This record gives sequence, C-alpha cells and structure tokens, in this order.
Amino acid sequence: MTAPDPDSSFSCDPRLPGEPTPVWLAEPADAALDEPPADATGGPVDESADESVPALTTDHTVDVCVVGAGIAGLSTALELRERGKTVAVLERDRIAAGITGKSTAKLTSQHGAIYDYLRREFGRRETKQYAAVQEEAIDAVERRIEEFGIDCGFERQPSYLYGNDRDTIEREADAAKLAGLPATFVTSVPPFERAQAAVRFDDQAWFHPRQYLLGIADVLQEDDGAAVYEGTRVTDVESGTPCRVQTESATVTAEQVVLATGFPILDRAGYFARMHPKRSYVLALRLDGEPPEGMYYRTGDNYRSVRTYRGAGGGEDGSNGGENDDSDSRGDGSNNGDSEALLLVGGENHKTGQGGSTAERYRTLLEWARERFPVESVAYRWSNQDYKPVDKVPFVGRVGAGAQNVYVATGFRGWGMTNGVAAGQLLAALIDGRKPPERKLFDPMRVTPKASAGKTITENVDAVSEFATDWLRALLTPELRSLDPGEGTVIRSGGKPVACARDADGDLHATSAVCTHMYCLVEWNDAECSWDCPCHGSRFAPDGEVLQGPANEGLSSASIDDGGGGGGVGDSAGAETGVSIDIDRGGVGSGSGSEERDGGEGED
Ligand SMILES: Cc1cc2nc3c(=O)[nH]c(=O)nc-3n(C[C@H](O)[C@H](O)[C@H](O)COP(=O)(O)OP(=O)(O)OC[C@H]3O[C@@H](n4cnc5c(N)ncnc54)[C@H](O)[C@@H]3O)c2cc1C
Ligand code: FES
Repeated sequence: MTAPDPDSSFSCDPRLPGEPTPVWLAEPADAALDEPPADATGGPVDESADESVPALTTDHTVDVCVVGAGIAGLSTALELRERGKTVAVLERDRIAAGITGKSTAKLTSQHGAIYDYLRREFGRRETKQYAAVQEEAIDAVERRIEEFGIDCGFERQPSYLYGNDRDTIEREADAAKLAGLPATFVTSVPPFERAQAAVRFDDQAWFHPRQYLLGIADVLQEDDGAAVYEGTRVTDVESGTPCRVQTESATVTAEQVVLATGFPILDRAGYFARMHPKRSYVLALRLDGEPPEGMYYRTGDNYRSVRTYRGAGGGEDGSNGGENDDSDSRGDGSNNGDSEALLLVGGENHKTGQGGSTAERYRTLLEWARERFPVESVAYRWSNQDYKPVDKVPFVGRVGAGAQNVYVATGFRGWGMTNGVAAGQLLAALIDGRKPPERKLFDPMRVTPKASAGKTITENVDAVSEFATDWLRALLTPELRSLDPGEGTVIRSGGKPVACARDADGDLHATSAVCTHMYCLVEWNDAECSWDCPCHGSRFAPDGEVLQGPANEGLSSASIDDGGGGGGVGDSAGAETGVSIDIDRGGVGSGSGSEERDGGEGED
C-alpha cells in the first residue's frame, strides 16, 4: 500500500507532545474494510496486499470510475449507485486517509463568514443555492446513517461563528438568515467570554468521518454493481468515449471519470492557478473536566476551530481510552478505543511551504488552548491542507475543455464535509443527464471576474515571487551546514539546489530541491518532515515521493557521499559536485567536529 506520510525513519520534532496521527485514523490499520469488496464487473479481485483491503490488479469496465475515497469520492459513488450506475472507486491509500481523515469533521453550513461575501459577489439566488445544498448535505448524512445503521458519533449541535468585529458578524447573520439558514445573532459565546458577537446556526452536526465513510464503503462493497479498491494509485487518465483510467497494475474503462482526489490529479485545466493550498493544524486535547457542547469558529486570517470529540459511539459508556490507548472498544477493529472526550482545536493556517517552522504552529495553538481551557495533555496532533479557490466557491462539474467525460470535485476551502456530500449529489445528477440549478455556481469553468480577477493575479504574483526569491536564496546559500535528526535544508550544489534532510538514525537523504510541477524550490516542513512547495502546495517525502499534488512526479534523486572527508552532494547521475555537507550529528551550526571540505560556515 502506498505510504501516505513521509519516510517513517524520520522523527519530526520529538519535543512536540501527542501522538502524531489524526484521532480519526488512530484505529488499527487493518480496520479499513470488514470484507473484500465485491467486484463490480465480475472480474477476480486481488487480495494479496492485505486480506481485508484489496487493490485492483485486473482490468475492469464500469459506467463511472471514481478516483479518491474521501468524502467527495465515496459520496459520489453512492449517489451514482442509487441512479443505477456501476462504479469502481480507486484509492491510492486507505479510505478517508486523505484530507477527510485529517479534518475536524464539523458537518455544518457555517463556513466562516461566507454568506455576506456570496451575497455581495455572486448575488442572492446563488447565496441561497449555496446554503440550501449545505443544509441538504447534513440531512443526507443523517439519513444515510439511519438507513445503513452507521455508528459514527453523529450529533446535532449548534455552530458559532464568533469575532470582535460586531458589524461583520451582524452582516453575516443577516445574509445567512436571508439565505434561509437557521442563523441568529448573539452576543454571548459561553466558552469564549471575551468574544463580542457571534452568529449561531442551529441544528448543525459533528461526526466521525472515517467511521461514516467505512460504513458507506461497506454498503458499496455489498452491492454487486460497486467496488472499492484501496492501495490503487491512478497514474493516468485518458479522456474520451470511453475513458481509460490507468493504475500501476490495471486499467479501468469507464464512460465517465470523477476526479475526487483533493487537488485534481493530472491538472490540464490550470487549477493550480485558480486555487491555493492552506495548511492547518489540529490538537486533540484531554481536559480536566468535560469539553464544551457546540462547535466554534473564530473568523479572521488566523482562525480557530473548536469542537468536542466523543469517539465513534459518542462515548456514552464514559470509559476512558487512557493514554494513547488504541484498544478496540467495539471489538470489530474499527474504533480506536479512545471513547474519552477530547477537545479538538484547529487553526494556525498558512499557505503551504510559506509558514516558517510548522512545529512552532502546534506550540502556538497549544498556548492558545491553555489560556482558555484546563488542558491536561495532548492526545493527538495532525495537520493537512485544503484548497481555496480564488472566488471561494468549490469547483464541481466537468473538469474542463479537452478532457471529455471527466468530472472534478475540489476547492472545498476547508469546508468539504458538507461540500463533499453536496458535490456527490451534483456530480451524480450531472452524469445522469440532469441540470440542477446550482450547477452554474459550482461550474469549474465559471467566470467570476468580480470575485476572482484581482485575487487570481495576486496568487500568481505570489507564486512567481516565491519562485524568484527561493531560487535567489538557494543560489546565495552557503554550501555547508550541519543538521540535527529531523532537520532539512536546501543547499547549493554546483549551482543546483539540493534538498537535504537527516533522519532519526542520523543518515542524510538528498533529492533535487526543484519541484517537478513548475520548478519552484521546496521548503522543509519540520513538523511533518516533508518537502513542501511554496508555489502551489505540492508536498514530497524526504526521499522525493509525491505526497500531495499538483505535482505528479517525485523529486529527482541526488546522491550523498558522506564517507571520508565530509559528504559531497552529487546529482542523480552520481557526479561529484565538490559541494560538502557537514555530517556531524551535533546541533545545527555547532560546527564542532564537523568535517568541512569547502570551508563554508554553519548556520542556524
Ligand atoms: C485541518 C483541517 C480541518 C478541516 N476541518 C473541516 C471541518 O471541520 N469541516 C469541514 O466541512 N471541512 C473541514 N476540512 C476540509 C475537509 O476535510 C476537506 O475539504 C475534505 O475532506 C476534502 O475531501 P475530498 O474527498 O475532496 O479529499 P480527500 O479526503 O483528500 O480524498 C481524496 C482521496 O484521493 C486519493 N488520491 C489522491 N491521488 C490519487 C491517485 N492518484 N490515485 C488514487 N487515489 C488518489 C487520496 O489518497 C485521498 O484519499 C478541514 C480541512 C483541514 C485541512
Ligand atoms: S506546486 Fe507548483 S511549482 Fe511546486
């Protein structure tokens, strides 16, 4: 199965507290699917990789091939099955192991201060359409849970958007009410005494996203017309009539293809220029006492998002999972046993690859939480990125000119729980030949000059400026530095930038520092131990493997000669460049005992 995260020999900042995994994914790895999925087309199913989680190894033909088993992909697959289409879902990793499994999983129509913006930039009708599909998505999830008996901690809860700018909050409350939402302007937000004003949305919800999607996957797997494959990476999509979806081991032929891969793989329509990635950080905290009811979101650039987690079953038995306990409280391998209530706190967002120390983000978040809640300890921590379109509305529909019969769902802007479910409904209707009224609002090829023109230019100028500054910096960077385990840096090597990182065993790993998407230089992410691109957010493992697109190819290799008189860094052909790297395992910039060859200087 494809490794979702960087090389495990990398230990990233061990001083950070908490298990470095999302609470939703903390269950045993074999809990993904109870049984191997039925094969949609009668072909044999390979079960070699993992008995319970088959990968696709033989060619298939289906009506629709869905790529990605997050909230958008599986919601789409289910909707399509209900319209009688045969479907195959191909997932390179595990179900809900992408952005969906790394969210805070609030299922709400309250998406920051969006309604006043939509009313101004798009108009009243579009604002109502946006609101209506979100509310319908919450109801749809609740209906599915009841219909299929999925135990995923779904609870109706109020959601608060709070802040100190009373005018902004009041306008948002008005716009939301006008859009038909259950919104009220309030001046008291119980856990946040200092907050001046808030919009409360009633009847919103939270849930356990992976438990929910495992339930949906079970429904699909029991259906002869559907199949879900994990550990199956799509390498190419050939559009046409029919389309051909190429994986590493087999081909799926389909009338239509849906790309529900977060950032669309094989970006032939320039999505990288119309949305940008934002990384956020989440802490799951044990409190001295019960965490609050309700969900909270502080508006502004540096947002904060708060909700309670009570385990998949809601934690009614009151049992405490204990310190990082991963026992299986339901006995079916699908619950992490952590039925203790935890407080989830998210925030500290920044553009991917442009945030400075990512480890520092966790520390700031913890400090913020400690000032407001009786925090006992950190149970889990994680981070991930979502994609923000320049006009703030997701892209759901045909992927673009030149790719016949290929559809996309992306750009959920940190609000994909409802948007992903709504995308499933819209895409299934479009593929079924219907014309839902909201299709124009979400059309990936829409033109919204009022809302996006300036922003598109700004984002691209930003990318260009990152490109120029990073290359300049790399060319001026001293050729030597020492690195602690878990650290990485870009050095100059004979005029070429090389990304070097040291793993927990003290070994150095080097790859080209040039992003394979559009040649920006990657930056080290010290909390996740990955190479992140500041231009459009591609991410790579220390060995260069792609973790997140738009890049579709890994960083090319660079060899390190750390024997003898201090490691020279060569290119992939093994050519010695004469550039040295300090392989001393002492602190950064310590210089002591370093085996320098070019006489450069350590830095911190
Ligand atoms: C920190 C954080 C907190 C959030 N909190 C909330 C929240 O509270 N409420 C909310 O509504 N939204 C929230 N979001 C946003 C939400 O999580 C996302 O918008 C949503 O999960 C996106 O779902 P998706 O199905 O599009 O993507 P994903 O869940 O990433 O699914 C895409 C899948 O495609 C697979 N894939 C990628 N490439 C390939 C390939 N080549 N072949 C096969 N498979 C492939 C991936 O492995 C992945 O599983 C949050 C986001 C973040 C980052
Ligand atoms: S992601 Fe576009 S250049 Fe790296």
